Amino acid sequence: MHEVLRKQVLDEECAADERKRSLAATLEELFPGYQGNLVDSRFMDWPGFAAAEFAAAVERAIAAIRPHAGAPILASDRNAGAIRAATANAERAGVRGDIEFTVRALADLCVPGPRGWLVTNAPYGVRAGDDASNRELAREFGRHVGSTLAGWTVAALTADNAMRGALGPGAVERIATRNGGIPVRLRVREPVPETPSGPGP
Ligand SMILES: C[S@@+](CC[C@H](N)C(=O)[O-])C[C@H]1O[C@@H](n2cnc3c(N)ncnc32)[C@H](O)[C@@H]1O
Repeated sequence: MHEVLRKQVLDEECAADERKRSLAATLEELFPGYQGNLVDSRFMDWPGFAAAEFAAAVERAIAAIRPHAGAPILASDRNAGAIRAATANAERAGVRGDIEFTVRALADLCVPGPRGWLVTNAPYGVRAGDDASNRELAREFGRHVGSTLAGWTVAALTADNAMRGALGPGAVERIATRNGGIPVRLRVREPVPETPSGPGP
């Protein structure tokens, strides 16, 4: 390789390493024990990795961090293992104090007020034999969506018609992506407008 070109490549590699080190230091300070995972991530070594854009996005995200969530966040799942995993994730992300985790089935869902957001990633029913229980889960969810959650914004990651139907005809598809290789759609149903209940004729 020509000497000038070699120096240019080395300079660029040094600058990229320096950017990684400085990102690592910032992230380490913010989330002790977590950054190793992020900064060692191979995506930073991919050809075309936009280091400057990534650093700027991280800086913007860091500047937008609030000391606490502005509203109560309640998280539940009927499976204790799923709750343990989610609690550990929240701990690592430094947001454990913002979320109240509960082992609870959808049948025992308690809606804590007239307004809010309900966000769910319900089972996709891709395993053989899951279909009937998933349709029942979707029916149960649909009953909440149409009654106790009428004043709420409901967002669901859906992979089948049963779950899509549960959100009702007013839902709008916001994102189409894949989760673990499964094509999924994020559908959002805005609160149902209240009908005025004046005195009858
Ligand atoms: C696709 S996983 C999502 C897990 C996790 N919330 C996430 O987003 O990574 C679906 C979850 O739904 C839970 N689940 C299935 N049926 C349920 C029910 N009737 N009530 C509450 N949770 C249920 C399962 O235990 C499982 O953890």
